[in-house]
Amino acid sequence: MISRKIVMKKQFNGTPTLEDFEILEEPLNVIQDGEILTQAEWHSVDPYMRMVSVGLKDGEIMPGRQIARVLQSKTTAVPEGSLVMGNFGWRDLTVYKPEADVNYDNFYVLQEMKGLPESFALGAVGRIGNTAFFGLTELCSPKEGDTLVVSAAAGAVGSVVGQIGKIKGCKVIGFAGSDEKLNWMKNDLGFDHVFNYKTINIDEALKLAAPQGVDCYFDNVGGEFTYHVMNNMNLYGRIALCGAISSYNSDKSKPYTIPVNYHNWIYKQIKIEAFVVTRWKSRWLEGITQLRDWVLEGKLQIKETVVVGFENMPSAFISLFKGDNIGKIIVKSSP
Ligand SMILES: NC(=O)c1ccc[n+]([C@@H]2O[C@H](COP(=O)([O-])OP(=O)(O)OC[C@H]3O[C@@H](n4cnc5c(N)ncnc54)[C@H](OP(=O)(O)O)[C@@H]3O)[C@@H](O)[C@H]2O)c1
Repeated sequence: MISRKIVMKKQFNGTPTLEDFEILEEPLNVIQDGEILTQAEWHSVDPYMRMVSVGLKDGEIMPGRQIARVLQSKTTAVPEGSLVMGNFGWRDLTVYKPEADVNYDNFYVLQEMKGLPESFALGAVGRIGNTAFFGLTELCSPKEGDTLVVSAAAGAVGSVVGQIGKIKGCKVIGFAGSDEKLNWMKNDLGFDHVFNYKTINIDEALKLAAPQGVDCYFDNVGGEFTYHVMNNMNLYGRIALCGAISSYNSDKSKPYTIPVNYHNWIYKQIKIEAFVVTRWKSRWLEGITQLRDWVLEGKLQIKETVVVGFENMPSAFISLFKGDNIGKIIVKSSP
């Protein structure tokens, strides 16, 4: 049996290009006791892959999670025909030996989706949703009447963060990079204020939309954008540092410097906390069950940008850095 995989041909220099990737074929072993053979149905491409790529050697497989169908199984824990979430990398067929303990970061049999598309398990009803749910509720502690700012607010994480903010009774201010995204956030997701960070003055926008200041900031982009939000924080403001996509393609040999206003942080007694979602792996199902139920109750609107074809994973990945996606970008393995 032959599996296809996509490797990083050579280390990325700045934003990845199609020439940096290569599709290779690899023979698979016959499965042994305790193992399964899976076929990918949905792949996730995510900004973190650019960060992780720095530690890859030329020719190594790209990392990534997928929803896959179990074609053969030699373990009773994972029945044939079931769907699993696996951290198998950019490959279509996989032979894998599940560990005795469930590790939600790497592998689990999909929970009951109650009729929702299985691809949601790579997005709002999976790791992405938990990032938004735990990052916001645990680190920003949003309360009714708080003002919440979200960056990359029409993306996979940001769109869920803003909607949870509305569920919690916050005034939500979303920043994103196109008018189409702004329309979706304002008209479908119910955000209170939306701005295109590429065309406005961030400081002026915040003074306009949050004249009393910002209580919670969920940061997906970092950089100078974050500097401006930090300057507009309220006393005891809470900031969740989730991601810094504005710097992922920067030259790693040079320090990535952004202005910092320490006086303001101290004077305002701001709490700034970075996180990785696996911090809440012991509460994984609590998060995705709540998220699934909110989707079913119509409290969370989900949009996916679907790219068809395993071979198109590189272009889907690259498009994240151009802002082409609305909501979660996913790749359907075959048409
Ligand atoms: N801490 C964790 O455990 C964790 C887990 C998952 C994700 N994350 C982080 O969360 C962030 C969002 O991830 P996601 O999966 O939801 O991706 P996403 O928001 O769906 O896609 C990335 C978006 O970022 C925006 N963007 C791209 N380059 C930018 C730049 N230079 N400056 C500002 N915005 C830029 C684009 O939207 P615009 O059109 O708005 O520019 C793009 O659509 C990322 O930083 C990611 O690394 C962290």
